[in-house]
Amino acid sequence: MAVTYYKRFRMEIELGRRLATPALPTEYSWIQWRDDLVDIHAQVKYRCFHGELDSNVFACLGELDGCRRLMHEIRRKPGFLPGATWLIATPEGCVATIQGVVDRNGLGSIQNVGVMAPFRGQGLGRALVIQALQGFREVGLMRATLEVTAENQGAVQLYRSIGFLKCRTLFKAVED
Ligand SMILES: CC(C)(COP(=O)(O)OP(=O)(O)OC[C@H]1O[C@@H](n2cnc3c(N)ncnc32)[C@H](O)[C@@H]1OP(=O)(O)O)[C@@H](O)C(=O)NCCC(=O)NCCS
Repeated sequence: MAVTYYKRFRMEIELGRRLATPALPTEYSWIQWRDDLVDIHAQVKYRCFHGELDSNVFACLGELDGCRRLMHEIRRKPGFLPGATWLIATPEGCVATIQGVVDRNGLGSIQNVGVMAPFRGQGLGRALVIQALQGFREVGLMRATLEVTAENQGAVQLYRSIGFLKCRTLFKAVED
């Protein structure tokens, strides 16, 4: 069986002082984590990642059931952090999602950042990441981390523009 190796970057950021909650476009709002939103996060995640590069790297992201399984897994992690887990709602429904957990090393770990295609380019991705970082700060964490596929230049640029620095290169093997 053929294997494709995807280059991935681990990026980290020092968590400094608290910043203001990022402003959203008029009529958009933040939705804080509640357990009954697990399926909404899964549906939004699916609609953000389906057909995108990362659904080749993590097949579960390309399928609704896969996103449901993944959301339940994230929810069950011992370090799951409601304060770093958000949806953005618009008059047309929820369009963007992020989840955060505290990893085994005590770092804030951003799980999946997704904005549905028609809503990109208005600062929602940046707002989600900053909002998750606030959640990490609020529980006293000093550093946060994430992983990104190197080819996903928009996402790499987003994280760099917030202050994340590349600290490691990894290769994820995916069976074709
Ligand atoms: C990556 C993603 C979350 C960005 O969301 P977004 O709402 O469009 O991002 P923003 O509007 O907040 O952009 C903030 C900054 O990120 C960078 N950026 C975002 N998309 C970019 C693109 N396609 N190309 C280059 N830079 C990009 C820019 O620096 C931008 O700042 P600018 O608007 O001042 O130029 C979105 O494209 C997405 O959901 N993609 C599919 C899922 C995915 O790959 N998620 C990342 C997993 S690691």
